[in-house]
Amino acid sequence: MLKKSTSANLILKPMDEGNLATVMEIEQLSFPYPWSQGMFLSEFRKRPFSLSYVAEEQCSGEIVGYVLFSLVFEELHLLNLAVHPRCRRKGIGDRLIAFVLGIGRERKTEKVLLEVRASNAPALALYHKFGFREVGIRPNYYLNPTENALLFQFNLEKVTIQHV
Ligand SMILES: CC(C)(COP(=O)(O)OP(=O)(O)OC[C@H]1O[C@@H](n2cnc3c(N)ncnc32)[C@H](O)[C@@H]1OP(=O)(O)O)[C@@H](O)C(=O)NCCC(=O)NCCS
Repeated sequence: MLKKSTSANLILKPMDEGNLATVMEIEQLSFPYPWSQGMFLSEFRKRPFSLSYVAEEQCSGEIVGYVLFSLVFEELHLLNLAVHPRCRRKGIGDRLIAFVLGIGRERKTEKVLLEVRASNAPALALYHKFGFREVGIRPNYYLNPTENALLFQFNLEKVTIQHV
């Protein structure tokens, strides 16, 4: 599933405050209604229930993407995911999602949930590729422009059983 050349050159490591300038740059390039720096810092304070990782290019040391998610009992909720526009379509989104699912399995979570803008074709294709299912709609969930969110779910238990 991963494009090997990219994934071999990528390190995933916990996000820290020193990464925030680059993360904010990617965030602002990626979303019409981006998170503020305060929102990222607030997630840092919720550790260990909220986890955040950056994808760093091994040779350049550059941050090229990130993912944030919360872990509460049996549920993992994907909160934010982005890849720098100039690094897209190289397998980094794949790598970040595979990583999150791996943590979900390690922590014995049952399901992964996420919301996505109904018009976000690249993200929808990514989640469909991994086998997420659309399980609901949250009307007018997003602003600027106002838009519905589609709620997607991935059942980790089922996959674990299939792979035994
Ligand atoms: C969604 C996003 C994270 C994908 O990251 P990426 O590194 O470009 O994704 P990858 O190269 O790993 O692609 C993985 C799969 O996603 C899908 N995909 C990604 N970009 C796509 C595009 N522009 N068009 C169609 N499918 C796309 C494909 O299924 C692809 O698999 P394939 O290469 O085998 O066809 C990236 O486009 C992004 O940061 N978007 C802006 C922020 C965002 O929308 N985040 C998600 C919020 S819910």
